[in-house]
Amino acid sequence: MEIQLWSEILHPYEQAVAELVLKFRCLRAEYKKHGLYSPIESVSGRVKSISSILEKMQRKGVPMDQMEEKIEDIAGLRIICQFVEDIEKVARDIEAREDLQILVRKDYLGKQKKSGYRSYHIIALYKVQTIDGSKNVKVEIQIRTMGMNFWATTEHHLQYKYKGEIPEHISVKLQEASDALMSLDREMSEVRSEIIDAMNDYRTQTRIVKEILGSIENLYRVASEREVKKIQDEFYEVFRQDNLEELKRFQKQLDIIAEGYRAQSLEHPILEPQGSRP
Ligand code: GTP
Ligand code: MG
Repeated sequence: MEIQLWSEILHPYEQAVAELVLKFRCLRAEYKKHGLYSPIESVSGRVKSISSILEKMQRKGVPMDQMEEKIEDIAGLRIICQFVEDIEKVARDIEAREDLQILVRKDYLGKQKKSGYRSYHIIALYKVQTIDGSKNVKVEIQIRTMGMNFWATTEHHLQYKYKGEIPEHISVKLQEASDALMSLDREMSEVRSEIIDAMNDYRTQTRIVKEILGSIENLYRVASEREVKKIQDEFYEVFRQDNLEELKRFQKQLDIIAEGYRAQSLEHPILEPQGSRP
């Protein structure tokens, strides 16, 4: 048998995990940047340990030369969502990506596994560029709610503790817990739209406040100190009212004021001596 250089074999998988974790985190950041609710709550990833790979190959009777084809979760990504509906959105987002080629979908959402496990899995091909050229590696993406993740993590620890032989009374408890979490997910879905509205309002407020303060700062360069101070006081007053519509109205007014100054400066450009600004 050839000598297995594990670090060389696993390197492209490490790279795939690192790149994809970053890409999905960027996706989440992009939703937030646009003031939108993100269906992705958090993202994590890992490369399967060598001992776990060997154990799985033994269990499934996979020969060494078929390892990369048959062991589909050497590179693993986990995407956690707040609501079941978000899982569908994330899955659709993944299907639309050009950097992932979907091979298999496994839906354990409506129909949980015998253990009580619920999750949505996608196995896909991802191309990494290495110094030896490009290589397609398989990645397993698990998408689940926080509730599903809570269950899977706990059950996994118990599997570990009981070496895969969870006693009957505990496994019954786990199935009951899974049912309870499923109905919790369902109940949470009913308040989803309210939560999304509240989050979107909060984000819009954060964005508007930032923009208003930016505009006030710009005005400070062209308007009199007294006027800017007055506008700033008005802003604090509006902010205290805690009313998004009022905040939007104030921003519009401020835009008009700023526009007025812009027009003025075009009519009478301030001639500054060269080199007066850094
Ligand atoms: P393995 O279960 O990994 O041997 O492969 P499989 O072909 O049976 O695929 P499956 O979709 O069932 O499992 C893929 C992965 O999902 C596993 O490696 C686990 O991370 C997770 N998983 C599946 N079933 C369970 C379960 O009952 N409990 C927990 N905690 N995780 C599970
Ligand atoms: Mg399995």
